[in-house]
Amino acid sequence: MQNPTQAPLLELRKVTFSYEQRAKPVFEQLDFSFPGNRMGLIGDNGSGKTTLLHLLVGLLKPTTGMVYFQGNPIQSDTDLVQLRRSVGMVFQQADDQLFCPTVLEDVAFGPLNLGQTSRQAKATALEVLQLLRMENYIERITHTLSGGEKRMIALATVLAMNPKVLLLDEPTNDLDRTAKNRLLTTLQALEIPMIIISHDWDLLSKLADGYVALENGKLTFSEQMEIHNHKHAHPMGSHTHEHQHC
Ligand SMILES: Nc1ncnc2c1ncn2[C@@H]1O[C@H](COP(=O)(O)OP(=O)(O)OP(=O)(O)O)[C@@H](O)[C@H]1O
Ligand SMILES: [Mg+2]
Repeated sequence: MQNPTQAPLLELRKVTFSYEQRAKPVFEQLDFSFPGNRMGLIGDNGSGKTTLLHLLVGLLKPTTGMVYFQGNPIQSDTDLVQLRRSVGMVFQQADDQLFCPTVLEDVAFGPLNLGQTSRQAKATALEVLQLLRMENYIERITHTLSGGEKRMIALATVLAMNPKVLLLDEPTNDLDRTAKNRLLTTLQALEIPMIIISHDWDLLSKLADGYVALENGKLTFSEQMEIHNHKHAHPMGSHTHEHQHC
């Protein structure tokens, strides 16, 4: 094993990927290196942000090229299992993440799968739900939760597995201002490297310490771009909204 402190946490080297054999590739010979900070990933709809994160967590396999975790190539099934254990992904659609009848079962599922006893897994789940201030939801039926509630529980299912890296795909979608602030405070307090896909400039300006932009299958690193957070007023200004420009 290479020394993890010297290698980037996650990397793509010369990755080409298409969803279908004849389709135009989303990426061609893409290089990407994630050093382990809190990186904002921005780009237009359909630019490939979700695809990039799915490649990094091994949900999609490069057509050619290789994914590296802490300097080690992901080649075998064992590597893939290790990668998935270490990298927690919060999906763009919370429904893709939640499949157990109740909230407690959903959040306990991951720790149980990692070998904790049923009792330990429930204790872990409760601890994470308390951290997110969602402990009152433990007995709720998952599919009856609101969109924002589902998103918080989806984050809980990932945090319960104690990931080394967090990949967040539009985490503030569906969240009202209170829930968004709670999520922001929680994420700021976590000492976990993360990549955050978002169109929400307010969130990014408060959370990310570096940015990459995806356009036409190419990545631009952020020295050329500055995300600002200005004071402003709108009619109905207390409602959650997004800035259309940076
Ligand atoms: N399962 C799939 N099968 C075929 N094409 C897909 C599939 N998923 C995504 N694509 C295509 O790949 C491209 C990149 O999609 P992706 O979902 O990664 O974009 P995105 O940047 O996350 O967009 P958004 O901001 O809308 O979430 C798009 O052209 C999309 O239509
Ligand atoms: Mg997406």
